[in-house]
Amino acid sequence: MRERGVTALGLICCLTFLGSGLTFAEPSYELTARYILDVVKAFRTAYVLHVVEHTKESGLSTREDWAGNAHALPLPAQFVKEAAGQVKSVEIGLISLTPVNPSNRPRTDAEVEALLQLEKDRSRGVVTFVDGNQFKAVSADLALVRSCVDCHNAHPRASRRNFEQWDVMGGLVVRMNRDAQPPALQLPPEPQPRPGSPERIKPPTFDTPWLK
Ligand code: HEC
Repeated sequence: MRERGVTALGLICCLTFLGSGLTFAEPSYELTARYILDVVKAFRTAYVLHVVEHTKESGLSTREDWAGNAHALPLPAQFVKEAAGQVKSVEIGLISLTPVNPSNRPRTDAEVEALLQLEKDRSRGVVTFVDGNQFKAVSADLALVRSCVDCHNAHPRASRRNFEQWDVMGGLVVRMNRDAQPPALQLPPEPQPRPGSPERIKPPTFDTPWLK
């Protein structure tokens, strides 16, 4: 009787352990989207504070037509869009209710609503929601430095000219397909062996007494 009790207890512990393992192996869309936004925001902020601001005194500046000018840097929004263009598994973008570039308009009513909520309540920081077959997260894009505001207010294509520093100027958006499979890791072809390459270290061999 007692043995059975012990076996049952062992089974319960084992299932609990396996169950918790499975939960951890499947992070939610919510969490994943927040991680992605966090990383994109960090890279963008580092670009603004440590590249754009840092190189100002040396005469470098951001320009919309940076690509044809070796002494110009991409705008923060262009930097994000360039990097995002290389990501195929999820979509990352910048949107605004009053965009300089019409292609940065929100795509759906739910995205418009998310931007309105972020403007109304700055303390929210991030809004997440299901939108059709996609899961989306939008985080507030703040006017971190004076130059954000100056450039947007003076831009010939601006549709709003009264931004102030620390305003919510728009949002970073991540759009994830809910039925997508995680991307398989694509390995490039094996490089050619080079003359004079050191011998590869051979993996250690083990005794395998359990194999007959
Ligand atoms: C020198 C001008 C300039 C500066 C500085 C600048 N921007 Fe922009 N920003 C633009 C232009 C131009 C676009 C449109 C880029 C595109 O998508 O082609 C844009 C796009 C955006 C967008 C997407 C919506 C839209 O208006 O098209 C947001 C949000 C944004 N910028 C926020 C910021 C923030 C925040 C900063 C400061 C950290 C900043 N910008 C600095 C010129 C500027």
